[in-house]
Amino acid sequence: MHQRVTTNLISATVCGRQVPRSMSRRIPHARFLSTNQWTHPTAPSAKYVEPTYTFASAGDKSKVPKAPLLPVYARPEFVLSHGKGSYVWDTEGRKFLDFSAGIAVNALGHADEGVLKVLNEQASKIIHASNVYHNEWAPQLASLLVQTTQREGGLGFATGHQSTTPPSGLQVFFSNSGTEANEGALKIARKVGKERWSLKNKKAWDAAGSECTKTKIVCFENAFHGRSMGALSVTSNPKYQAPFAPLLPGVIVGKLNDMQALEGLVTEDTCAVIVEPIQGEGGIHPAQTEWLVQLRKRCDQVGAVLIFDEIQCGLYRTGSLWAHSSLPVEAHPDMLTMAKPLANGYPIGAILVRDAVASTMTPGTHGTTFGGSPLACAIGHHVLTRLSDPAMTSHISTISTYLVQRLQLLTEWFPQHLEPTVRGRGLILGLGFKDTEAPAKIVGLARERGVFMLTAGKDAVRLVPSLNVGKEEVDLAVDVLEGALTSL
Ligand SMILES: Cc1ncc(COP(=O)(O)O)c(C=O)c1O
Repeated sequence: MHQRVTTNLISATVCGRQVPRSMSRRIPHARFLSTNQWTHPTAPSAKYVEPTYTFASAGDKSKVPKAPLLPVYARPEFVLSHGKGSYVWDTEGRKFLDFSAGIAVNALGHADEGVLKVLNEQASKIIHASNVYHNEWAPQLASLLVQTTQREGGLGFATGHQSTTPPSGLQVFFSNSGTEANEGALKIARKVGKERWSLKNKKAWDAAGSECTKTKIVCFENAFHGRSMGALSVTSNPKYQAPFAPLLPGVIVGKLNDMQALEGLVTEDTCAVIVEPIQGEGGIHPAQTEWLVQLRKRCDQVGAVLIFDEIQCGLYRTGSLWAHSSLPVEAHPDMLTMAKPLANGYPIGAILVRDAVASTMTPGTHGTTFGGSPLACAIGHHVLTRLSDPAMTSHISTISTYLVQRLQLLTEWFPQHLEPTVRGRGLILGLGFKDTEAPAKIVGLARERGVFMLTAGKDAVRLVPSLNVGKEEVDLAVDVLEGALTSL
């Protein structure tokens, strides 16, 4: 039994056929909706109530070869060998739908031909030469990041701003991961804080910084900013932090969206505030626009640097370049960190910084051996060019609408398990569960039915598929979720 749902996202005519707007331009490796009417089921699918795969148990019977790897991950008992698009296969030939995209990384899916071409061509020319020398690709990717931000909005630029040549107003530092990008951002904010404090207090600059009190950093409950010491210090989760204490001193943890607390939380002693516009690992919790406006205002009042961590929610995951691109400029940050999808799985991270803050950084104040390599940046340039294609953003919007509609049906069919509202936007979505044990069970049940999903925070299942995921994959993922929820 199916019910038809008409959407208002349809417009273009291709080869004489009405197609969704997303199909009006071709995006490789994505299967697009082929009708202007979506058909939704009227009852949960019974197709995946039983598991598709059984896995060997861990321990002596495991088929996974024992290896001298630090056991910091509890992995399922199979070994992945290859992937294509949204699918991956294990060494025993089992096929899985990767609806986690390598934790929001493989935006263009696995083994993307365009990415492979750039990777092979660049690798055969030069992979790495160090930051002691210029390379051809770091400046090009930095310029593209700045121009795209100017055009599509972010870091003080309203959407539709005319981009300038050479691009100006923002500067980029490349790292190799998200946690490193956040480390760099916190360092920049600390240095800015010391300069602002020294100006305000009209005292001689104390090189050791011992007199400076503007060193406090504000972060928020359920945040995740990474595993290195600085980033971990602002990742307010006792499970991650406790074994490694003492961490950075002077970190103060606030509550996301708590308007009343802002004045006491962000003070003259604050040098940095770091926040995810949509918390990913913490449970898919969006920051409210009005709260971000007030946070920005409070940062300006006390001279604190506002950092948005868009490592998971940025680079088109919400449908726009940055999660904050469409927000009023009064809610924009001074700095932004990115990583995950920028090179579709090749390691890269970056900090995008407004000039006013960037001016504090001079030769020798920060650095990296690998960051900004010609290989990482050539791939990043290709990926950003593809993701910023209007056909891609249109596709993300269309497929997200369809996925959210199907997920919303789950909340109606399984009210005993699920919260009534689907969390998140674009393709960073979460289902909140009433029982905090359920998300891990659902992720396990989905894997046995051939679909990878993730948990998030204490109570959510997180869906962060590739951004070019097709309707067929969305249907498979949600059918499997229905089977898993039925058998919970
Ligand atoms: C919002 C956010 N910040 C930082 C990180 C850390 O990134 P990485 O694992 O690349 O160090 C993550 C990783 O999940 C993240 O989601």
